[in-house]
Amino acid sequence: MPLKSKKMAQIVIEKKKTVRGEISVLGDKSISHRAVILGSISSGRMFIKGFLNALDCQATVKIFSSLGIKIERQHSDELSIYGKGLKSLKKPLEVLNVGNSGTTIRLVSGILSGQDFSSSITGDKSIKKRPMRRIIQPLRQMGAEITASEDNYPPLNIVGKPLHAINYNLPIASAQVKSCILLAGLFSHGETSITEPFKSRDHTERMLNFLGADIKVSGLTVTISGKKEIKAKNIIIPGDVSSASFFMVAAAMTENSQLTIKNIGLNPTRTGIISILKAMGVYIEEQNKKEVCNEPVGDLFIKSSRLCAIKIGKESIPGLIDEIPILAVAATQAKGVTEIKGAEELRVKESDRIKVMSSELSKMGAKIEEKKDGMLIYGPTKLKGCQLDSYGDHRVAMALTIAGLVASGKTVIDNTDCINTSFPGFEEILRSVV
Ligand code: S3P
Repeated sequence: MPLKSKKMAQIVIEKKKTVRGEISVLGDKSISHRAVILGSISSGRMFIKGFLNALDCQATVKIFSSLGIKIERQHSDELSIYGKGLKSLKKPLEVLNVGNSGTTIRLVSGILSGQDFSSSITGDKSIKKRPMRRIIQPLRQMGAEITASEDNYPPLNIVGKPLHAINYNLPIASAQVKSCILLAGLFSHGETSITEPFKSRDHTERMLNFLGADIKVSGLTVTISGKKEIKAKNIIIPGDVSSASFFMVAAAMTENSQLTIKNIGLNPTRTGIISILKAMGVYIEEQNKKEVCNEPVGDLFIKSSRLCAIKIGKESIPGLIDEIPILAVAATQAKGVTEIKGAEELRVKESDRIKVMSSELSKMGAKIEEKKDGMLIYGPTKLKGCQLDSYGDHRVAMALTIAGLVASGKTVIDNTDCINTSFPGFEEILRSVV
């Protein structure tokens, strides 16, 4: 009998002239995870609006349901979480599974370490290759008992222990590691302090503060007092600036384009892509700025622009860590040599994003030199449509689709199911404005 091969999703895209209209994107992924996590350990009903109903955040919801938390879905993007405080989680009956979500495994492990039960947490093939020593080390210093494959990779087996506070200097700027330690700190005796080399996204700090935790931020140091209950409040989540970035670049690179993207999170620890695109000559206006649930929010207006190359160093990377794949696409259309340095973290994301973006854009005719910690991209180059692979990485799949908009002929991107981890409906929204 012939083997049945599972048909993989594909995006086929042709060169487009302009990008015009007004769109919204789905809710912010980082904030959606944090709302579910903090809602589950706070007391009272947390109503969440703007929740990202995508595979990654669904995994977080499923995990807290398995940990005994009642979570009701009112609507695709609306949830109610009935937390009962810091001591209410129950031993799960099964191995917790995060799917493809690095944020879920790292943040949830911080909480599991301080419980009075044991648990195991794992994920898909890609998660099993992502480094966890970065959380295991500080958690062990706090008293946690964790074992992992090669002492680094999932599955993680966690024996819950009473934890104690630490002062920790993060060797790399990582919001996932910082948030893991902050959450473990909430379950520890004493005051935990974490200092980062550069500022990474601060949604955990902002939400904890919003919910009444005793948390202080001073420069690159965050301090949290343990064992203090937090109170549920309603959370309204803005659109994800990382999802918006694909459309910003699409509008900037095509002729006669004008695009409005409504209601986007404009937290300064996330808007590196906006600053860099502006520095590359892109016309972007931030409009109707306001603060919602302790997070800055606004609309973006982008017009076609002539792009010029830019040099990006280590200090800028945390603020645009997830946007480097789409930035690489923009750089192929920019005049001059774009240099991205200090971005070695990209090699341990959902895929090795330095390698994959270099190889796939090169197939389209881009001139790229792959470096250990980044890329050199020579532009502008005329891209040509061809067959590409996402390597199962949602941001690679979406970035290559946008590259297809400015490539001659037809571009086929294989293996695009992964887009559902962060942005179901991406292709439909794109087709509505081209
Ligand atoms: C995230 C932090 C970033 C980012 C990831 C989401 C978060 O990872 O790449 O997509 O929600 O905390 P690192 O902080 O580990 O770089």
